[in-house]
Parts: sequence; C-alpha cells; structure tokens
Amino acid sequence: MTATTLRLSAQGLSKIFTLHVQGGVKIPVFHNLSFEAHAGRCVALAGPSGAGKSTLLRSLYGNYLPDSGHIKIRHRSGWVDLANALPREILDLRRYTLGHVSQFLRAVPRVSALDVVAEPLLAVGADEDKARNRAAELLERLNLPERLWNLAPATFSGGEQQRVNVARGFAPSYPILLLDEPTASLDAKNRRVVIELIAESKAKGTALVGIFHDQEVRDAVADDVFEVESFKETVA
Ligand SMILES: Nc1ncnc2c1ncn2[C@@H]1O[C@H](COP(=O)(O)OP(=O)(O)O)[C@@H](O)[C@H]1O
Ligand SMILES: [Mg+2]
Repeated sequence: MTATTLRLSAQGLSKIFTLHVQGGVKIPVFHNLSFEAHAGRCVALAGPSGAGKSTLLRSLYGNYLPDSGHIKIRHRSGWVDLANALPREILDLRRYTLGHVSQFLRAVPRVSALDVVAEPLLAVGADEDKARNRAAELLERLNLPERLWNLAPATFSGGEQQRVNVARGFAPSYPILLLDEPTASLDAKNRRVVIELIAESKAKGTALVGIFHDQEVRDAVADDVFEVESFKETVA
C-alpha cells in the first residue's frame, strides 16, 4: 500500500446560518460531515445546488466558522484547527499553505491582471521578475490576450476574470488548494488548461479540494468524491 500524506482533516463539521436581521431564522446547511484531503490527490465535493458545497469550501478557507467540529490543516510542520484559530494564524495559513480559487474574482480597482496574479508570490518574498514571469506564463497558458495583462480585471468578461482568478490560485505551489467551480465560465480549450494545471499541482504534491460543476472536468481530475448532504431536519 502506498502511504499518503494527510494535509487536511475535516471532522464532524456542522453549519447553521442564523439570519439575525430576519428574526433569527436558522438555516441548517450541513451536519456532522467528515472527510480528508491528501497530498497529490483531488477530492471533488458533489451534491445538488444548495447542498452546501460552497459553504463547506468557504469554511475550509476560514471564511465561515463551523458550529461544531474541527478543520485540521497541516501547516509549518504542525496542525492548525480552523475552528479555533486566531486571525493572524489564518492569515499565515493563507499566505503559505492554503490557496483558494473563489467562484468570482474580487477585483481590486487599478491593480493590473498581471499584478493580481503575481501578488501571492510577492507576498511570500518572491523576486519581482520571477513573480511577474510566472504570472505571464499562466496568463498565456490560459489564453488571456496580452493586451489585457496591464489592465485592471474589473471590466473583463466573466470568463476572463475567472482565468485571472485561476492563474492567481495556481501561481504559488500551495500545499493545499481549494477550487470553487474554476471552469464554470470557461470554454472547452481553457477547461483543458485547468485540467492540466490541476494534474501538474497534484504531481507536485498539492492536496486539492474542489467543486466541479462540469462532469468532464470532475472525471478528469477527481481521485475521491465526497457527497455533501444537506441537513434535512428543521432546527428549533
Ligand atoms: N452567508 C449565508 N447566509 C445565509 N445562508 C446562506 C449563506 N451562504 C449560503 N447560504 C445558504 O446555504 C445553503 C447552501 O448554499 P451553498 O453552500 O452556496 O450551496 P452549493 O454551493 O452546494 O450550491 C443555501 O440554502 C444558501 O441559501
Ligand atoms: Mg456553490
């Protein structure tokens, strides 16, 4: 049996949203979920729309605090539990260990596409030329026209923004990478580039957790499938 390296362990996770501005209505999303992610493998989160896949992925990035359970992340030769990590630990984790390709790019005004992609490399002290070369290499592979590289992505089309977002997520080699529908607005040619990028990062030892709307992409990249089942009972 080949030994695999555990990178992320979610244990007994539950999430209930409380709508404080709407009379405290409770929306139970998922209950008691457990799964693991290992180096060099990709787990696909599956389930119908509204099952809680994005909420789970955002919890794994520390955007939402789970109501119960643990999210243990391998970080700097130890383990950090996102269920009780300090804000500065979460920032350090995101800088060095945990990448996230969100469904939509949060475009920062006046920052060029090239700089948006190079930024996570510069944040860990990469040489400026190397960071920009890596950014250019990724934007080229993802077929983003070169005339757009020095423009801010705010005015880009959905597919162009998504390619900038994908390039940014794959620029560093994170030990763990979370992907929320990275190919949803891409054409077949660029979907294949994303499939290649995922395969390359698996080969480098990244543990990936992703939501793949596209069956073709999921079949091509997923080593494991984790079904997210929504919580059906009502909560008093
Ligand atoms: N920030 C939030 N506040 C309240 N409810 C939310 C929030 N985010 C998601 N939800 C609800 O949680 C459920 C799961 O949503 P989501 O995780 O986006 O599902 P999926 O990604 O599987 O389609 C939905 O019913 C959605 O309305
Ligand atoms: Mg979603």
